[in-house]
Amino acid sequence: QNAWKLADHPKLPKGKTIAMVVLDGWGEARPDEYNCIHVADTPTMDSFKTTAPEKWRLIKAHGSAVGLPSEDDMGNSEVGHNALGAGRIFAQGAKLVDSALASGKIYGGEGFKYIKQSFDNGTLHLIGLLSDGGVHSRLDQLLLLLKGAAEQGAKRIRVHFLTDGRDVLDGSSVGFVETLEKDLSNLREKGVDAQIASGGGRMYVTMDRYENDWNVVKRGWDAQVLGEAPYKFRSAVEAVKKLREDPKANDQYLPPFVIVDESGNPVGPVKDGDAVVTFNFRADRMTMLAKALEYADFDKFDRVRVPKIYYAGMLQYDGELKLPSHYLVSPPEIERTSGEYLVHNGVRTFACSETVKFGHVTFFWNGNRSGCFNEEMEEYVEIPSDVGITFNVQPKMKALEIAEKARDAILSGKFDQIRVNLPNGDMVGHTGDIEATVVACKAADEAVKTIIDAIEQVGGIYVITADHGNAEDMVKRDKSGAPQLDKSGKLQILTSHTLKPVPIAIGGPGLKAGTRFRNDVPTGGLAKCSCNRDEPSWIYCS
Ligand code: 3PG
Ligand code: CO
Repeated sequence: QNAWKLADHPKLPKGKTIAMVVLDGWGEARPDEYNCIHVADTPTMDSFKTTAPEKWRLIKAHGSAVGLPSEDDMGNSEVGHNALGAGRIFAQGAKLVDSALASGKIYGGEGFKYIKQSFDNGTLHLIGLLSDGGVHSRLDQLLLLLKGAAEQGAKRIRVHFLTDGRDVLDGSSVGFVETLEKDLSNLREKGVDAQIASGGGRMYVTMDRYENDWNVVKRGWDAQVLGEAPYKFRSAVEAVKKLREDPKANDQYLPPFVIVDESGNPVGPVKDGDAVVTFNFRADRMTMLAKALEYADFDKFDRVRVPKIYYAGMLQYDGELKLPSHYLVSPPEIERTSGEYLVHNGVRTFACSETVKFGHVTFFWNGNRSGCFNEEMEEYVEIPSDVGITFNVQPKMKALEIAEKARDAILSGKFDQIRVNLPNGDMVGHTGDIEATVVACKAADEAVKTIIDAIEQVGGIYVITADHGNAEDMVKRDKSGAPQLDKSGKLQILTSHTLKPVPIAIGGPGLKAGTRFRNDVPTGGLAKCSCNRDEPSWIYCS
């Protein structure tokens, strides 16, 4: 118990209700027509900057400031919420996989030895996101793993890919599939029977999260495991090109397809004795498939056939569920997170978001661990997201509902910390629909207002920040910052996150007069000073 005791903060008063608001995908960028936050009416967020600039600043939310391999890595919700929730930076999945592949340690680990049992008589299946986005997976890691597996004796390999268009430009899928095809043909020349077996768009096939829509995972299961899909092609490049001809098609939502041989039979259903590796390092959008692959008792959809396989994740995705039980690389050990400290110090927490971001303020916040630390001290409320739509058609999402739940929790006096995630800037930003993203940003701003009004009423404190950028820049730009056009002269819409810093504002009647941010820690990041030295907190000082 004593190991968890926290000393009182020298400046911040005790016993005040604190609201911690994370605006998902809300960065700071040049104010032009492609900055949806600038275009949108956002009086609340604007007021922090203009009326209390000493309590507003920018912090880093990408690259090494959040534990990613390089400064070219944009931030994302997993690493952002991990950093916020733990107050520390960890070498993240992307980095750990890079080192395990570079050192070759991955091949000596328990997970690889486990899947190796299939190499004599079975097939090695690799399932995951095919892009260089670096958020859930990376193409270069897949290629290294393919090479390594072949060297380690895999004789028959099948790749089942998900096209991206969300962490990378829409339309880039074709190039990634071509690169993969080339690599597999090199392996074939070396005598390995290596082929693509199936595919589909990440948001329509496999990569759902937080159990929002199991149909997404089922579509993937049917194609990957059963070898059944509405579309059949002889080649994956042809498949992606053909399916993209539909004017409404995009990489994120391509329908599932399987690759068939000359007799029309699928080339890679999963069979008894095979191995499966889900090669995404990020957890949220692989956990559902991991459950379908691993659990004997499973009732989320009819799996029809459950092959006896050797299954390993690239990482273990859930530290609490120990899911999957076999994995190629050990995940970051994100321990002693703020949530755990709070329950040990008698601080009562309320956490809320809608389904598509619910795990961000619970699972990611708590270091990729599902469930509460202490049910008596914590209440987690999930507001069901709309299912089966792209959020540009409902850009307000559940912002109002989340804000009202937070308001009620604040006014109830039952909680000391209220933390929420407002998804709009991110989820609508990812659709690439600029008009809708403007509406989304306004809705998120209104939600912030509802929450800080409640904090005013109870004499509390608020901290408003974001996990990474997205809505503040919706176009790909050249080095000078000018919007880039594609070959046909069309504006290149940026559906992904950005490298931009995010704002943080602190306020409320509970703060002592004179509280301000330190201005001598320019490298401040989501967790702390991004140089990761043992600097004192950069956040408060009076
Ligand atoms: C997604 O999974 O939706 C994107 O790849 C990343 O978005 P997030 O990091 O904001 O969840
Ligand atoms: Co996002």
